[in-house]
Amino acid sequence: MSEAATPTTTRPAYDDATAEAAEKALCFRGIWAWLVLLLLIFLCIAFVMWLLRKCIQGPVYRKANRIDGKVVIVTGCNTGIGKETVLELARRGAKIYMACRDPARCEAARIEIIDRTQNQQLFNRSLDLGSLESVRNFVARFKTEETRLDLLINNAGVMACPRTLTADGYEQQLGVNHLGHFLLTNLLLDRLKQAAPSRIVVVSSAAYLFGRINREDLMSERKYSKFFGAYSQSKLANILFTRKLSMLLSGTGVTVNCCHPGVVRTELNRHFAGPNWTKNALKVLSLYFFKTPRAGAQTSLRLALDPGLECSSGNYYSDCMRFPLVPWGRDMDTADWLWRESEKLVGLPPIQSGPNNESGQNGNGTRPATTTAAATTAADGSVETVVVDRPSS
Ligand SMILES: NC(=O)c1ccc[n+]([C@@H]2O[C@H](COP(=O)([O-])OP(=O)(O)OC[C@H]3O[C@@H](n4cnc5c(N)ncnc54)[C@H](OP(=O)(O)O)[C@@H]3O)[C@@H](O)[C@H]2O)c1
Repeated sequence: MSEAATPTTTRPAYDDATAEAAEKALCFRGIWAWLVLLLLIFLCIAFVMWLLRKCIQGPVYRKANRIDGKVVIVTGCNTGIGKETVLELARRGAKIYMACRDPARCEAARIEIIDRTQNQQLFNRSLDLGSLESVRNFVARFKTEETRLDLLINNAGVMACPRTLTADGYEQQLGVNHLGHFLLTNLLLDRLKQAAPSRIVVVSSAAYLFGRINREDLMSERKYSKFFGAYSQSKLANILFTRKLSMLLSGTGVTVNCCHPGVVRTELNRHFAGPNWTKNALKVLSLYFFKTPRAGAQTSLRLALDPGLECSSGNYYSDCMRFPLVPWGRDMDTADWLWRESEKLVGLPPIQSGPNNESGQNGNGTRPATTTAAATTAADGSVETVVVDRPSS
């Protein structure tokens, strides 16, 4: 082929150079462009995940107020939310009775907290909320040691366990989460009043939303559903107990509030019975999507410590903020029924005296009670109550 016949496909050299220069002028070119792009995407994702993580962890109680020498009881505090709560209260100088069912685990937690806070005023005490005798023994010992109680945190809990019974024959979750704490709190009311202004914090759960108080089958004998049934019922019971107690304590200087700590990475799901792969998947997901125990303790801490909540009582908090309750969490008819039923189940005489019981006598008339506080009008204005001391039992 002759040279003249060859088609000229190559562009002039100066064209290529111009195009290359133009391309170079754009900084996004070749492998560097991709790297920068990937880095930007990575940074954006990291920022969004950091923000989401911050939201999941929720607010932190930041006021620096101390409670040196205040006498505190925290139940179930050898691990999880309770342990973190004690750690922070110990940092602030409280004298803390750690009420746990396993003395060895309690001791390990106690020593760790003493090491970390240098607060020596921490005491290991046995309390099994699944045994009414254990509750009574705990209170009896505490009363020989202290004449006042500034803060009671009802934190211990059991979730979604197979149907088992407490030492007294009650369904485990209602027995431990509600009845054990019901008896404990009632037996300690005199010490709390002695220390007024004093506080009670009840650790409930948003699971109460699924709960109903089953008047026909309170102990889930006929039908047992471990989470949506028994656990949710026990957490609703915590809330109704808080509401009723706040009415009974009106005017005494003792406040009581309850809270949902959030979804927290603790040992609470120890009874989760799924296959291994779901357990492992949950473990991994919980590292990111669940609160740390420290974050989970913040709402309890605010309720326990915040001077601004001195007068708040009967309320429900989550993420350190007050939340409205759904209608069945405010149902005072059920709260009254549950209170009376709980009194019978734990063997306490009725303490309420109303228009039909002006004398301040017990409802069953067998064990007279001493009236100690003035008549108070209930928050909804419908029930008149009188707070009375229980006869020692
Ligand atoms: N974690 C969450 O996502 C979450 C969510 C909503 C509400 N809550 C509530 O938060 C509270 C604390 O739970 P957590 O998450 O910290 O759980 P956790 O790590 O399992 O701690 C529960 C504590 O309760 C104690 N306990 C259980 N049964 C007891 C009994 N019969 N007598 C005395 N103590 C007993 C446990 O003692 P042992 O170690 O000896 O068993 C443990 O110290 C519970 O009331 C729970 O219902 C937790």
